[in-house]
Amino acid sequence: MKNIVILVSGGGSNMAAIVREAQRANWRETLGAQVAAVISNRPDAGGLRLASEQKIATAVVDHKNFPDREAFDAALAQVIDGHRPTLVVLAGFMRILTPGFVDRYAGRLVNIHPSLLPAFPGLHTHQRAIEAGCQVAGATVHLVTPQLDHGPILEQAVVPVLAGDTEQALAGRVLSQEHVIYPRAIARLLRSL
Ligand code: GRF
Repeated sequence: MKNIVILVSGGGSNMAAIVREAQRANWRETLGAQVAAVISNRPDAGGLRLASEQKIATAVVDHKNFPDREAFDAALAQVIDGHRPTLVVLAGFMRILTPGFVDRYAGRLVNIHPSLLPAFPGLHTHQRAIEAGCQVAGATVHLVTPQLDHGPILEQAVVPVLAGDTEQALAGRVLSQEHVIYPRAIARLLRSL
């Protein structure tokens, strides 16, 4: 079985979309894959509750308990590796990862970023897109490399920026497309792993 380990920090709507699609498309049968665990760096992440409701194993590795990024990433990798992952999925995981961690999962570590990369890496992407006068915005699924929000692009979705858009309105429009492209990109990648 190809195990998928999903890392979250917050609400976990992308994680939930992946879990839903895994059930709907019966990934166990069609891809020989399953969501094996959901891990958060925040004990209060809503995604953890969603995952336990689906009977998926959950764990917390709280970054506040570690003196530096290296120590946190080492502990995180140990928990991840306990689930023998084929693929590690960052789904709103709000920690910068060390190059050592990224190398360990090279080619099987994916992220979704709420902009049309290479435009707007980093935070506040929607506000920045509105302020720049962009007519379109979107989301990007990409393989993770040591440089933040870079790495080979696997899939993108484009949405319009509408007159009078607020950051929240645009974020919601982008997020609904994230829920479409992330499960699809993961299914495609799993076929090649
Ligand atoms: C998404 O917009 C994702 O692109 C970004 O963080 C947000 C996470 O949302 N990295 P959720 O936790 O999946 O609901």
